[in-house]
Amino acid sequence: MTLIKWPSAENILLAAKNLKAGALIGLPTETVYGLAADAENENAVKRIYAVKGRPKNHPLIVHIGSIAFLEKWVKDIPEYALILAKTFWPGPMTLILKKTEMARDFVTGGQESIGIRIPSNTVAIDVLSKFHELGGKGLAAPSANKFGAVSPTSSNDVEEELGEALNKQVDLILDGGPSIIGIESTIINCLGDEPHILRYGSILESELKSVVNLEKSLKNEHKVRFSGNNNSHYSPKASVVVNEKPLTGDGFIALNSIPTPTGCIRLAQPRNIYEYARELYSAFRMADRINLKRILVVPPIGNELEVAINERIAKAAYKK
Ligand code: TXA
Ligand code: MG
Repeated sequence: MTLIKWPSAENILLAAKNLKAGALIGLPTETVYGLAADAENENAVKRIYAVKGRPKNHPLIVHIGSIAFLEKWVKDIPEYALILAKTFWPGPMTLILKKTEMARDFVTGGQESIGIRIPSNTVAIDVLSKFHELGGKGLAAPSANKFGAVSPTSSNDVEEELGEALNKQVDLILDGGPSIIGIESTIINCLGDEPHILRYGSILESELKSVVNLEKSLKNEHKVRFSGNNNSHYSPKASVVVNEKPLTGDGFIALNSIPTPTGCIRLAQPRNIYEYARELYSAFRMADRINLKRILVVPPIGNELEVAINERIAKAAYKK
């Protein structure tokens, strides 16, 4: 069986051993599920691209289990980046830093920088610890979806999305419960004198500003290649419309304080903005599972997390 629910210590060890031998593992993280491979293994990393249908020059994030492994992958770490790492790791934050020789072109897409993070999901941490014990240095893991599709937030989503493409003998999907954040990590470019946000996530600008000086966001001006930056991304098959007039048969996503319009099918009724982030992608997936043509989305109001959520909604709604 490829999908392992409630992984035991033996399952975790098996996953770590298989990773070491070049397998791919669907790995739970607190943000979204990843598709992990040994970041030092060129063939394994190439399989990630093949399974996802992802263009080869799009860089991957390396996941490590402890800060002790940071300097294997990156060098010339600015003081502010260390402060960010110590404050927000393990957690939903990726830092872009200058790479070492260890980070090869097949992981970085040929760039001189690399994205790195320590996830906080306990299954992810357990797999990483075992993998490090076996001599592994880090796991390259993009979100476990086909290129351009919605990121998976449960192990069943990963199976549905990539199950067919995985190798039944060695690849595994580990369950680690639903992703508690539900949207991808906040990505911070740490290559300049001051950090700036490349992708908004659940670590908020105000939280970052409480520990470092943040450069005005240079969104869309950065020179690094950045696949989440494509206009059409995170898209379900159904077309996504925002704040439009409801039509009969529309899927409907809104905070639960907003009633379902007559004739619409409720896909999620989050009680607050955090639940909204957590449920958005699974609601998109539900729409596709029941073959809806259109999803009507009412963006949430709450706090700064709106920025990250609206970014995902806008990309999902982008007309191809
Ligand atoms: O929450 C997350 O970040 C999830 C979980 C699995 O960790 N991962 C994730 O990976 O979202 P992915 O590959 O789907 O998105 C990572 C984004 C891509 O848009 C990629 O271009 C960007 O990070 N990225 C990675 N390395 C980079 C680098 N060196 N410079 C600029 N952008 C980079
Ligand atoms: Mg992705």
